[in-house]
Amino acid sequence: MATSDVVFQGVLYYCFVPILIKFLIFMLLNKYGTSIKERLICVFWNHAMIKYHTALRDMKKAHFNSMKYHKSADLYLRNKGLLRILEIGAGSGANFEFFPPNSKLTVVEPNAFFEPHFYERQKKSLIKVDKFLLTCAEDMKEVEDSSMDVVVSTLVLGSVRDLKQTLKEVHRVLAKGGKFYYWEHVHDVPGTWLHFVQNLLTYTIWDLIFGCHLNRNIDDVVAEDVSLFSHVYQERFEIPFSNDRWSVWKLVRVHVMGVATKGLI
Ligand SMILES: C[S@@+](CC[C@H](N)C(=O)[O-])C[C@H]1O[C@@H](n2cnc3c(N)ncnc32)[C@H](O)[C@@H]1O
Repeated sequence: MATSDVVFQGVLYYCFVPILIKFLIFMLLNKYGTSIKERLICVFWNHAMIKYHTALRDMKKAHFNSMKYHKSADLYLRNKGLLRILEIGAGSGANFEFFPPNSKLTVVEPNAFFEPHFYERQKKSLIKVDKFLLTCAEDMKEVEDSSMDVVVSTLVLGSVRDLKQTLKEVHRVLAKGGKFYYWEHVHDVPGTWLHFVQNLLTYTIWDLIFGCHLNRNIDDVVAEDVSLFSHVYQERFEIPFSNDRWSVWKLVRVHVMGVATKGLI
């Protein structure tokens, strides 16, 4: 084959075809609105997250362990040993096993395609689901002020449109002394290759396809607004299986886990 043919083939396979595929995806998403994107995101997460949840199960268990010592702010529920938990962006229900068995769960999830998967998982757990609200965490008007003992978010704060507004809502619905448990991927520190790639992808295709930002300093935002949480315990860590050579998990290698407490005053 002539050199020009090889170059032509290279350009075709490595430049033109990927650009054409992205363009087609973009056109399809635009034409059929959010529903096709939400369905795809649901299918994608259900498959992609199996490895993630299996590998991180013990770490998550340790992170949520202290929840079982938390007491409800409502005297009646406290005497019955019940805990009111709100999970935002619960997806297919990856966290049932980490909640104390006597919990009463409310869910806020904007993507309706997750709901049947969520209830399928719920059947295998002891957790009672009070409400499944199809709405965004930025606007949880169906959840009353100070009505939750615990709020949980795992891999959601990178997806919400307005992080600060979400945190305000989390704070509003928590009872005094209530706990916010979060577990999220975050932006790597400046100067690293990952910091650069996370910016690049977020501002190009990542948000469009996966509906999430790779470059959020969620830990800084939680800690910076002193009017919100009276005490924030959090630590960054690296997920263990992200070092395989071409693993896409490298992109979310850096995580934060934290517990923020709403003050008593
Ligand atoms: C990566 S999935 C994580 C699902 C689940 N929490 C887990 O750990 O497997 C992100 C979830 O956030 C939800 N989400 C996206 N935007 C949201 C918003 N504004 N408010 C609440 N949830 C949102 C998505 O629908 C999806 O269920």
